[in-house]
Amino acid sequence: MLRLAVTSRLLCQQLVRRELASAMQSLQSSTSISAFTSTRRTTHTTHGISNARSLSTSQPKLQSEEVEVTFVRANGERVKAKGKIGDSLLDVIVNNNIDFEGFGACEGTLTCSTCHLIFSKADYDRLPEKPSDEELDMLDLAYELTDTSRLGCQITLSKDLQGLEVRVPATINDARS
Ligand code: FES
Repeated sequence: MLRLAVTSRLLCQQLVRRELASAMQSLQSSTSISAFTSTRRTTHTTHGISNARSLSTSQPKLQSEEVEVTFVRANGERVKAKGKIGDSLLDVIVNNNIDFEGFGACEGTLTCSTCHLIFSKADYDRLPEKPSDEELDMLDLAYELTDTSRLGCQITLSKDLQGLEVRVPATINDARS
């Protein structure tokens, strides 16, 4: 009788151990799933944060790499646009789909003078590069020429030109025609 009781107790203990082992196993697997999920979430979150961070840190960088330019039409309308450093003013107009009729007809090959722009004296003086002889020759053919005229296809954006404002002459002359 005693033996039977002991055997039954041992069996019970084995059963409990098995149940415990099985419970532990399923607990571990669910933990690992949740850990995986959590890692994924963390990774995702990390990416999110990293993206957000890179966006938030790169946003000012992007902004600092973008240069805002205002084009003022002859009728006084102000057209604001952004360009990247290294873009020409012609690029800014083309990339922003600004419709200045006939502007940039030769696509920057310095043969038309239709990209004639007029700068304020201060802005003209801070332009990084002086006009080449070819640009000056082409400018001579532009209408409404001023002492602060330049060809937009020859002006490259730099950080220093942030906030640049230029006038677009009312009339253009395509030197090729
Ligand atoms: S686009 Fe023709 S000279 Fe500038």
